Amino acid sequence: MNRPAFHLTPEKNWCNDPNGLIFWNGRYHAFYQHHPYGMAGGPMHWGHASSTDLAHWHTHPVAIAPCDLGVIFSGSAVEDVQNSAGFGKGAMIAMFTLHGENEAQGIAWSTDGEHFEFYEGNPVIPNPGIRDFRDPKAFYYAPGGHWCVVLAAGDRLHFYKSPDMKHWEKSGEFGPEGNLAGGVWECPDLFPVTDDKGQSHWVLLVSMGADGCSKGSRTQVFVGDFDGNRFVQTQKEEEVVWLDWGMDNYAGVSFSGLEPRTILSWMSNWLYADKTPTQDFRGQMTAPRALALTETPKGLRLSYRLPQAFLNNFSLEKPVEAGAIAECGLLRLAHQGDFEAALQNAQGEQFVFGVKDGVGYVDRTRSGKDIHPVFAQRLTCEVFRPESDWLIVLDANGVELFADEGRAAFTMLCFPETPYDRIQIQGRAQVFQRQYWG
Ligand code: FRU
Repeated sequence: MNRPAFHLTPEKNWCNDPNGLIFWNGRYHAFYQHHPYGMAGGPMHWGHASSTDLAHWHTHPVAIAPCDLGVIFSGSAVEDVQNSAGFGKGAMIAMFTLHGENEAQGIAWSTDGEHFEFYEGNPVIPNPGIRDFRDPKAFYYAPGGHWCVVLAAGDRLHFYKSPDMKHWEKSGEFGPEGNLAGGVWECPDLFPVTDDKGQSHWVLLVSMGADGCSKGSRTQVFVGDFDGNRFVQTQKEEEVVWLDWGMDNYAGVSFSGLEPRTILSWMSNWLYADKTPTQDFRGQMTAPRALALTETPKGLRLSYRLPQAFLNNFSLEKPVEAGAIAECGLLRLAHQGDFEAALQNAQGEQFVFGVKDGVGYVDRTRSGKDIHPVFAQRLTCEVFRPESDWLIVLDANGVELFADEGRAAFTMLCFPETPYDRIQIQGRAQVFQRQYWG
């Protein structure tokens, strides 16, 4: 099976969540949940890749391996600009869950961005008697001059604060009120985003585990306020607002030290992640997405743009002729009124998407290999500007589609026999493409 050209994958074996995303000393670093010796989850390590353009990824040796206190679950990384921890000015500090007899949080530090040392005082946040207590996202809160951590604690979040990344004091909780989805809470992230009127809001992402949700693991979005201690949801929702309306976007978190706020997610779903038919490696990340907040009739919604550093890896836009498309690249579909499009191959396999009566949809029921009872899916999302262009990111093993000016995102793995190399359209539409330069 083809390896994606510009999506981050482990060179070998298993990966899940992105961890410790950070822009540090001029490079994008992405660590990830990794089992270096198997094609399914196992004793988790932090794998490591870095990039200067978010499309070409250089694999580094495993960054953090299991220790006496446990295996290494998900977490984050920060740059200690002021040397508050004493590991060195500008040191990279990783914070993660030590998953052993219980779950507690530990730190490790690096001055070269490649070799890490565990802090001898670990765990820095011991387990308070809660089974699921993990995935610390650390960030610096400038107005208060201190570090913050948000982490998942069963059916809610806990907040902690610290002067030095080593000594932590609990400062608040959020949930379960406000949650409209099922599943255990995982991999939170919290950051400010400025809306289209220039006002700043705090956006909270919470990945919700696979239980109790027929679409499997997905990520929920909350909009509110944060005072350095706790988060308050200011925008109440009537239904779940998902970060992505497809099946394969989980555990997404943002890069530390990068504006505009940019996220990478694991492009899979816990329901069938161990069944994806790839050889040598299993698991991949989504394309990077820069976030913005825009007002809609239903309140503020996140919207996505592909970052410029990433876009620079693609050729100039050209019209698609006779429906022939490159196997990996970007497509833009401009349309008048409702349409339906199908990405197809010679075998007649097809990935279908379109818009009808103000609803965007994707359908992978005939997209290629069917790997699980819930894999064949048709998914929908309300679009507020049905006339707006669609942007499609096409690479081996998956499609990412953005409609409604980037507000409606669908991330979908698919495994056709041979790559889709043509597009067929019903309705009035024109397609343009940008090829990946490689
Ligand atoms: C989310 C998750 C995290 C955990 C990690 C283990 O996908 O379950 O909560 O830290 O994966 O690999």
